[in-house]
Amino acid sequence: MKKDNLDDLRQNNFNLKKFIDEYFKKDVPLVYGDGMPGAQIALIGEAPGRNEVEKGKPFVGQAGKNLEEFMEILELKREEIYITNVVKFRPYRINRKTQRISNRPPTREEIKISEPFLKKELEILDPKLLVSLGNVPLKCLTGCETATIGKYHGKPLDINFTGKTMVLFPLYHPASIIYRAELKLVYLEDLRKLKEYLHYNNIL
Ligand code: URA
Repeated sequence: MKKDNLDDLRQNNFNLKKFIDEYFKKDVPLVYGDGMPGAQIALIGEAPGRNEVEKGKPFVGQAGKNLEEFMEILELKREEIYITNVVKFRPYRINRKTQRISNRPPTREEIKISEPFLKKELEILDPKLLVSLGNVPLKCLTGCETATIGKYHGKPLDINFTGKTMVLFPLYHPASIIYRAELKLVYLEDLRKLKEYLHYNNIL
């Protein structure tokens, strides 16, 4: 049932593909969520990068490696959770001099465009817990532009993103730990708290 509804959503995608192609004036590949539609936990990242577009799956390549620690500590397998992103296309910039293409954070407008799809996706999945990675999904899911991961990380909170109350457990983005070594211990402590939360609430 959930799988059929997700398939339907991807087929008609609220005209997201059409809108984005018109917005960027070209054919933009979308990267949808991956994992069990019946999963109890949905992990929500920011947006796909080059590897994700190539493979057509979120969190592969280096980003997937960065997630391995998360899976190991929580004793989870990738197949047991559902993984998606707020933005379903790759935001990128081109260096004018070198013509090199690199990832960039999504703009507010790109996030707004992507929101209705994510709402419907989470409404269909209806997981027991949402886990957000970094600032972009935190702001989007709470609807609070001033929310910051520095303030919200590691504590569950009730949100009303889909119209139904759901619990969100915000975490730092695993990639940000690489650039900010001082966050490593905080991130590990948050994972320990998340594990405790999952056991205590019989999730999984
Ligand atoms: N890859 C993703 O799919 N999402 C992120 O947030 C980062 C890398």
